[in-house]
This record gives sequence, structure tokens and C-alpha cells, in this order.
Amino acid sequence: MQIFVRRATENDIPVILELLYVLGRPIAKNDLEITTFSRQIKQYITNPDKQILVAQTNSKIVGLVSLIFVTRLNQEKLEMYIPELVVAKEYRYKGTGKNLVAECIKIAKEKKCYRIRLESGNQRVESHKFYKKLGFTQHALTFTFEIQ
Ligand SMILES: CC(C)(COP(=O)(O)OP(=O)(O)OC[C@H]1O[C@@H](n2cnc3c(N)ncnc32)[C@H](O)[C@@H]1OP(=O)(O)O)[C@@H](O)C(=O)NCCC(=O)NCCS
Repeated sequence: MQIFVRRATENDIPVILELLYVLGRPIAKNDLEITTFSRQIKQYITNPDKQILVAQTNSKIVGLVSLIFVTRLNQEKLEMYIPELVVAKEYRYKGTGKNLVAECIKIAKEKKCYRIRLESGNQRVESHKFYKKLGFTQHALTFTFEIQ
């Protein structure tokens, strides 16, 4: 199976939404939310500090990664932060995730980023193995505070 990675376009928004559901992100409750989420994805695609890459076979999109270039206070170089990475279930273990991350690494080098950072929930034990396989190291705990 031939897979290539490219920048997402607005035409990809419905598939991007579907893949975000596979990742476990909130499912739009109604058409208004679909419009809101679609607008946010469009803004993401057009913002120069952000990107969405999709992995595509000949006929369909099977994975995505989103990334943000972050300016840190005490670093001259940018940090690449990856909020989302997901591959459709039936396309896993075929090198798709690795291809997406490889493209991120290529972009990070081009942008002269000093590192790539991401968070992965405690429950995503399988993904942790994937990241370690690709050379990522675990070095932090994440704390969140829910705003009611
Ligand atoms: C994590 C995920 C993106 C990996 O995508 P994938 O396309 O299946 O991964 P690849 O086929 O490119 O695998 C790359 C390497 O990691 C290994 N790997 C992948 N998943 C693995 C697992 N669960 N355990 C051990 N190794 C794993 C592969 O065997 C492969 O090794 P190789 O290079 O020696 O052949 C995919 O499983 C996924 O979408 N999971 C659900 C969403 C998720 O948890 N995303 C991460 C959020 S932080």
C-alpha cells in the first residue's frame, strides 16, 4: 500500500473530523458544533504557526497529525508541539504513523526547532510503545485543571 503525506486542505475537513473522533475527541452534538469545529480546523490550516498533515492512500485519507510551532521564553529556537496524531484502525501497523512523524521531524529540522514535544494520556499504553520505538523519550508528567 502506497501512502503519502501532504498538507491538509479545507476539502479534508470532514475526514479530519472523523479521524478526531477515532482519536477520542468530543463528537459534535449538532450541526452548529460541526460548523464550529470545521471553522476551527480551517483556522488551524491557514495559521502559519500551525499545520495539519494527512496521510493518504490512492483513494482515502487514513491518518493525520497536527502541529504547532511554540515560542518558548528562554529558547531562541521554536518548539514543535504535536496535539493530535491518529491513524484509522484498519490502517495501523503499516507504517502510516511513522510516516507522519517522519514528516514532522523533517519540518522541525527545516524550521530549526530544538525539539518536538507531545502529550499522551496514561491510558494510551500502546501509543507510548510506538513513540518509544520512534526514539521519543518520556521525561514529564502532565497536570491539567478542568475549568467548570
Ligand atoms: C499510535 C498510532 C498513531 C501508531 O500508528 P501506526 O500507523 O499503527 O504506526 P506504524 O505502523 O507507523 O508503527 C511504527 C513502528 O512502531 C511500532 N508500533 C506501532 N504501534 C505499536 C504498539 N502498539 N506497540 C509496539 N510497537 C508499535 C510498529 O511496529 C513500527 O515498528 P517498526 O518501525 O519496527 O516496524 C496509532 O496506533 C493510533 O492512531 N493509535 C490511536 C490514537 C493514538 O493513541 N494516538 C496517539 C495520541 S498521543
